[in-house]
Amino acid sequence: MPSPLRIAVLASGRGSNLQALIAARDAGELPVEFVAVGSDKASAGALELAKRAGIPSFVLNPRDFPTRRDYDFELFARLNASGADLLVLAGFMRIIDGDALKPWVGRMINIHPSLLPKYRGLHTHRRALEAGDSEHGVSVHYVTAELDGGPVIAQARIDVLAGDDEHSLAQRLLVQEHRLLPAVTRLIAAGRLALAAPDGVELDGQRLAAPLRLSGHTLTR
Ligand code: GRF
Repeated sequence: MPSPLRIAVLASGRGSNLQALIAARDAGELPVEFVAVGSDKASAGALELAKRAGIPSFVLNPRDFPTRRDYDFELFARLNASGADLLVLAGFMRIIDGDALKPWVGRMINIHPSLLPKYRGLHTHRRALEAGDSEHGVSVHYVTAELDGGPVIAQARIDVLAGDDEHSLAQRLLVQEHRLLPAVTRLIAAGRLALAAPDGVELDGQRLAAPLRLSGHTLTR
């Protein structure tokens, strides 16, 4: 049997997407080994989840570093040392220095709660509501130096319902996030996905014309 993909997860918050990955692994649906969980916040729920799952974890406090660059180089030194093959940003709320992340381009993905290229950055649910969008969604993309700007691998969509507020929209989208991230990670673990530099994605050696779509629990072209 081939050895499982080694993944490291970075998270600043509660860690429900990390939990979705752990649950998929535990259910035998995701052949990965978690080698590290890192956070910039000592209070992140993700750290507690890692501890409970027996995953090595670490906190790096940005205040302990003179510049963002220093922070990011230390962060990636830790991640390199973990032996990770893939880095998953699951609610990691920091902009990462472009030079620091360069060696990981093609081996780092992020989950972002919007239908990219719409609504990069923060407050995506509010912005979708304010724009009167009839659809909202979540994207998993390769990370490049451009914030929320790397090639999109896959998306899940939901309808915006009459009466939705930021909270209800976020809650409904989260259900999709918890399916989308394991589904994409599974494709990577199977060696089926690749970044086609500079801005494309290949599935089984074929360039995607559009991001994969999640329907139910399945990704389709
Ligand atoms: C998710 O909405 C994710 O899309 C965004 O940050 C949130 C993290 O939630 N990038 P959690 O910490 O995984 O529960």
